[in-house]
Amino acid sequence: MLVPEGSLKWDILRTTSSTFNFTSGDWQANFASQNNMLFRGHTLVWHEALPAWFPQTANGQNAERILREHITTVVGHYAGKMHSWDVVNEVIASWYGLPNGMRPSPWLTFLGESYIDTAFRAAAAADPDALLVFNMNHLEYNSQGVKNMRVDTLKCLRRLKDANVPVHALGIQAHLDPNDGSFNAGEFRIFLQDVAGLGLKIMITELDVTDQSLPGDITVRDLTVAGMYEEFLSVALENPNVIAVLTWGLSDKYTWLSTYKARKDNAAVRPLPLDENFNRKLAWNAIARTFDKAPRR
Ligand code: XIL
Repeated sequence: MLVPEGSLKWDILRTTSSTFNFTSGDWQANFASQNNMLFRGHTLVWHEALPAWFPQTANGQNAERILREHITTVVGHYAGKMHSWDVVNEVIASWYGLPNGMRPSPWLTFLGESYIDTAFRAAAAADPDALLVFNMNHLEYNSQGVKNMRVDTLKCLRRLKDANVPVHALGIQAHLDPNDGSFNAGEFRIFLQDVAGLGLKIMITELDVTDQSLPGDITVRDLTVAGMYEEFLSVALENPNVIAVLTWGLSDKYTWLSTYKARKDNAAVRPLPLDENFNRKLAWNAIARTFDKAPRR
């Protein structure tokens, strides 16, 4: 399954407030179809990657129209070709202390929490076949902050289901990072069961492992990274509602973490299953093992 890291974000699609530029997204959609891959959309609503015109143009009066127009046009453009859409991305950030753990964003300021409902309803109307995903970061590990994120995410998903909002799946980004604490299998298992209990599918959408603060020695680092993949995925895949695992990139040659989570010793980061020469690393084997052991679905 192919997911563009940037092509379907607002800053690429919406260079002006009145136009849509699908050049890059269409190239990727064609690549996927020519190579018999599914295609996945990321993302319709995010507090980041908003174009420069947005803060100058959007306000409480026109924000709903702008949101609906964007979703109707973009989802409509790829209708019938999209496996799933990340309709909203990272909309909860409990550490800010806002009601229901909502993340501060222009959408929240202009429209209140119901922008989430509006986004899902507009996406469903524009493509009745795509799986509509509520995509989230910081849900995997066990710091107090992450525990709060799980509670607030479940609360929000429950509210959406109760209101018959067409949300079909939770996306768990899974940018695994020791800064988020450590992995607690029991707690994560229960979280997945709670999500599945709401009738939602689950996708692991952006898996990688931050090696920023791991030892420099490559053998040690690769072993630790592989262990983190295996520990997480072996539990995630126990739950039959987990329908997909996607990594955020394939090779260490191209990864957002080389800029976002660079190492202090300036060594190249090694977060992905393939090394910078596209050779399989221990992480590849670890992922393969968890797939082999996973119950069939
Ligand atoms: C990252 C991309 O990988 C980068 O290329 C881009 O510059 C910034 O965004 N969570 C998300 C993704 O939901 O959109 C982010 O992708 C990584 C973190």
